[in-house]
Amino acid sequence: MPDRGQRDRMVLVGAHAAWYDRLTTRVASLLYRAAAGQVLDELARGGRLLDVGTGPGQLLVEVARRRTDVTGAGIDPSADMIGHARRRLAAAAADDRFDLQIAGAEDLPFADASFDAVVSTLSSHHWADPAAAVGEQARVLRPGGQLWVFDLRGVAPSAVARELTARFPAGAVSRPRVHGPASVLIRCHRAG
Ligand SMILES: C[S@@+](CC[C@H](N)C(=O)[O-])C[C@H]1O[C@@H](n2cnc3c(N)ncnc32)[C@H](O)[C@@H]1O
Repeated sequence: MPDRGQRDRMVLVGAHAAWYDRLTTRVASLLYRAAAGQVLDELARGGRLLDVGTGPGQLLVEVARRRTDVTGAGIDPSADMIGHARRRLAAAAADDRFDLQIAGAEDLPFADASFDAVVSTLSSHHWADPAAAVGEQARVLRPGGQLWVFDLRGVAPSAVARELTARFPAGAVSRPRVHGPASVLIRCHRAG
C-alpha cells in the first residue's frame, strides 16, 4: 500500500484538476462514448450505475444524455474534481439523477449490492490499494451486476486485473473488446 504522500499525488486537485477537466473534452470523448455505449447495452431499464474516480464526470454526462431512466452515483477523492463533475452534470440537467460524493475507491459510502453496474474510466491506475478498491466495488455491486474497468494500455495496473480475477470466479472475468486506440477493458459479472 502506498504511503500518504504517494496517495495524495494520485488525487488530481486544483490546477491539475482544472487542466484535466479541459483536456478530457478534447481528447477523451471517444472513450466516454464507447464506454457508455458498451455499459448501457447491458444495463436494464431503471438501472443504477456507479462511476468510480469520476473526475469531471464526463462518463456520467454521456450516460445521462443517452438514457434518462438511469440513475446512480459518482465518487472521487478530489473535491475539485467533484466540483467539475457537479457543474457538468448541472449543465446537462442531470445533477438530480447522480449523487456525487468525495470518496476513494477503497472506501465506498454505499450499501452492499446497491448498483447494477460499477464502471471506471482512466482511474484504476490511480487506486491507492487495488485489493481494497476491487473488494469495495464487488461489495456494492448487486448479484447479477457488471463491473467494468476501462484504462490505458500500459498504465492499467496488473494488480487490478489480478484482484478482479481472484475475486470473481472463473468465467466471470472477460476482456470482450478493446475500445479506441489506447484503452483496455475488463468486465466482471457477479453471479446472480
Ligand atoms: C485520469 S482521472 C480520470 C477521471 C475520469 N474517470 C475520466 O475518465 O475522465 C483519474 C481520477 O481518479 C481519481 N482518483 C485518485 N485516487 C483515487 C482513488 N483512490 N479512488 C478513486 N479515484 C481516485 C483522481 O482524483 C482523478 O479524478
